[in-house]
Amino acid sequence: MGLRSAQWYGGSDRNAYIHRAWMRRGLPDSAFTGRPHIAIANTASDLTPCNAHLGEVAHSVANGVYEAGGIPLHLPVVSLGETQVRPTAMLWRNMAAMATEEMLRANPIDGVVLLGGCDKTIPALLMAAASVDLPAVVVPGGPMLTGHFRGVPLGCGTDVWRLSEEVRAGTLSQEAFLKSESAMIRSRGHCNTMGTASTMGLLAEVLGMTLPGTAGIPAPDSRLLEAAHATGVLAVELVAHQRRPSAVLSRAAFLNAIVALAALGGSTNAVVHLLAIAGRLGVALTLDDFDRTGSGVPLLVDLQPAGRHLMDDLYRAGGLHAVLAEVRDLLDATAITVTGRPLVDHLRDARVHDREVIRPRTAPLRSDAGIAVLYGNLAPDGAIIKPAAASRHLLHHRGPAVVFDSVEDLHARLDDPDLAVTADSVLILRGCGPKGYPGMPEVANLPLPAKLLADGVRDMVRICDGRMSGTAYGTVVLHVAPEAAAGGPLAKVRTGDTIVLDVAGRRIDVDVPDEVLAAREPASATVRAFATPRRGWERLYVDTVRQADTGADLTFLTGASGDRVSRESH
Ligand code: FES
Repeated sequence: MGLRSAQWYGGSDRNAYIHRAWMRRGLPDSAFTGRPHIAIANTASDLTPCNAHLGEVAHSVANGVYEAGGIPLHLPVVSLGETQVRPTAMLWRNMAAMATEEMLRANPIDGVVLLGGCDKTIPALLMAAASVDLPAVVVPGGPMLTGHFRGVPLGCGTDVWRLSEEVRAGTLSQEAFLKSESAMIRSRGHCNTMGTASTMGLLAEVLGMTLPGTAGIPAPDSRLLEAAHATGVLAVELVAHQRRPSAVLSRAAFLNAIVALAALGGSTNAVVHLLAIAGRLGVALTLDDFDRTGSGVPLLVDLQPAGRHLMDDLYRAGGLHAVLAEVRDLLDATAITVTGRPLVDHLRDARVHDREVIRPRTAPLRSDAGIAVLYGNLAPDGAIIKPAAASRHLLHHRGPAVVFDSVEDLHARLDDPDLAVTADSVLILRGCGPKGYPGMPEVANLPLPAKLLADGVRDMVRICDGRMSGTAYGTVVLHVAPEAAAGGPLAKVRTGDTIVLDVAGRRIDVDVPDEVLAAREPASATVRAFATPRRGWERLYVDTVRQADTGADLTFLTGASGDRVSRESH
């Protein structure tokens, strides 16, 4: 089969002349006669600090592509800095995916190397690659090195929440808190906890979409550049074999990712991202697959937020392959990687070098990790909870609701000394789903009331239609679907209603008779927020976004579209 790029560059007509002439700029004739053109889709940006080093990684990829006979082409794509963009990076994930998809399809390329790191970037790149289905491979940008403050390692994200709660509880001074700020981010790379970036980088490899052994290499480690170079070589081979994402991203690959998600103690955000990527290919993956496949898988990795260590400890201890080797019997051996070989084949040499970081199956951190999927009259289409990040004593709980209609409402009232709240209360935050916020922000791990913190309370049951940072912890029921703004029953709960959480029974309910709940009007605040006039991307998003239980992609972006371009430009 001929190269796709030859549709632009092949022949002697006027259009081929134009395509070649404008691209030459020093390229040899051979660049247009049979050498594969490989895009390096790069999310490097100064405003995505976790990805700012990807220019150097791209340089190594380009060297590898060129060495293997291909033509490397740098393609900057939409980038999302998790800590920077408002109102939430998740609002823009689908836009980044759609823009990247369109640019991959529109341009004369035969394959693509995808460079991501910060939370939404790898999911968006994988969604795009799945939709276009050109030969593709990911280089995860890697985690940063561990910073220390006063001799104690800092987990970025997790320790921000912990330290800020200590300030609110009065056990840490504001001055000490601010001093820790410059110690938090020690080096290039993404967050060093098992947050969303770490999780999605590692899962990209479990899905088969990286050169095996690449995910989890710390960003400053020179082995990342070695892997990037080798990935460039591999990209050219992928084109030669026409090995496309649709051949790699099978249902078996997604189920392996769910097993790994549990064993790693990965972020709850992986649920929406994996569902969205699968949706782009028409792979039948459902919310229930996370419970069916992931529950019962032991948590083996002692990393924050569930445990103690950080990402460079995991790499030193043997890395992803050492973890996967521990659960090899749970992995589907039919799932292949971009190498064309099964994932499990790449685990043969895996060794654990530090049993404190990667536990054996016989002594896991938790025997039953994974994601529990809850249903009930509060979440007819499902909600999730990460039991490994929750307090055991709260996994079965009954308590009165304290309802907040928005994050602004939460901030205005949470620390009011007169707020009627006890440790048994269930804090509910609504209006934070895909449509309601809009963009489904990471606010589900809502802070605890200051007066309870001062009393020593460190966890409470919380319920939200938003997401939670992968670096957060607590007994949090999140991704409630349908969300309040889409007519979900969460909009009808009132302060004082009794909430019943039963994780073992997989239930989340409000103890109000069905007919009473049905007769109630939804809270006016959530209805009002949804009626806000919008334009541009936000309008397209709010009008067409699906709910969390199917990955919060846009309705018209599910299903693959392929790489075909129907018409010439002139
Ligand atoms: Fe970029 Fe955490 S903010 S990975």
